[in-house]
Parts: sequence; C-alpha cells; structure tokens
Amino acid sequence: MTDARVLLDTAIATTDEMGALGARLAAVLRAGDLVVLTGPLGAGKTTLTRGLGAALGARGQVSSPTFVLARTHPTTSGPDLVHVDAYRLSDPVELDDLDLDWDASVVVVEWGRGFVDGISDSVLDVEIVRATGADASAPDDDADPDDVPDEPRRVIVTGTGPRWADAVL
Ligand SMILES: Nc1ncnc2c1ncn2[C@@H]1O[C@H](COP(=O)(O)OP(=O)(O)OP(=O)(O)O)[C@@H](O)[C@H]1O
Ligand SMILES: [Mg+2]
Repeated sequence: MTDARVLLDTAIATTDEMGALGARLAAVLRAGDLVVLTGPLGAGKTTLTRGLGAALGARGQVSSPTFVLARTHPTTSGPDLVHVDAYRLSDPVELDDLDLDWDASVVVVEWGRGFVDGISDSVLDVEIVRATGADASAPDDDADPDDVPDEPRRVIVTGTGPRWADAVL
C-alpha cells in the first residue's frame, strides 16, 4: 500500500519504556483496529502487548501465546484484546480461519507482517529494531528469561489506510 504514514520513530531504552509505549498505543486504539508487531525473537513484542493490555484493562496474563495461536482478553470496559502469535502460521488463510471478531476487538498480531494483507484496509505496523554489531549484547542461553538486562530498541510505528490517515499518537 502506498498511503503509509510514519506516526512515531523513537528510542526505547528499557523494558518498562516498551510497556509504556504499549500503553500509549492503547490510548488511541479502538474496536476494529489491527496492530501488527514485527521484530526478531526477544525484541519486545509481547512486552509491548503486555503494556497495551494493562492500559486497556485486559483480564488474564498477556504472555507469548506459543501453543495457542490466539488468546482473547476481555477488558474492563471497551473492546476485547485479541493477542495473536503468527510465528507458526504458514498461510494467511489460517488467520482468517481463527474466526476472530475483528470488528469488536483490538487485534494485536506478533509476527503478523505478510499475514494480515486483505484482512483490514487499515493497519498499525509496529517495527522493533534491536541493536546489532558492537551495541548488541551477546545472547546468553542460560539467562533467566525474566531477567534480561535492558537494552535499547528503536521502534517505528507506521499507519496504513484511512483509519490512520489523520491519526496522531
Ligand atoms: N528496551 C527493551 N524493550 C523491550 N524489552 C526489552 C528491552 N530491553 C530488554 N528487554 C527484554 O527483552 C525481552 C523481550 O521479550 P518479549 O517476550 O517481549 O519479546 P518478543 O518480541 O515477544 O519475543 P518472541 O519473538 O519470542 O515472541 C524481555 O525479557 C525484556 O525484559
Ligand atoms: Mg512474543
């Protein structure tokens, strides 16, 4: 699509800041919105979704839905949060097969790029870029996943379609 607008391009220094960014996105999201999260393993997609969910008042633990494709979190008021992990999807049709109530929900799809084309005419694309080269910390396979040291990210939020044509984050 050609009508993409970069709404935000920012540095995120810490895990907490990533959660706060999720909350900032939540403030503008409404039923029918589709958010796609792109970034390598451990980039912070679930961390952002957790902050987003907390701000929406989502019930239940927002975690990496590794074995379920999608988890629906009712919220205290407002639309459900539907959290999808498309990592294991092989075909965009499978996303359609989930029979999600798109219009009544805020849908957040990890690894969703390339899977959501045609599902909605508007998409909020969130790309998380990890430092590479000299700035990157070496992966530590023995590290406690809950105790990963803060490391800078760059986050670029791009809106596509009529929903985001005039939106301000
Ligand atoms: N600046 C940062 N932003 C977000 N997370 C960070 C940052 N610095 C360190 N972290 C840590 O990186 C990890 C990100 O994990 P998270 O599960 O959110 O990634 P993910 O992108 O969902 O991974 P996956 O592709 O496996 O689903 C967390 O442990 C988090 O604490
Ligand atoms: Mg994840």
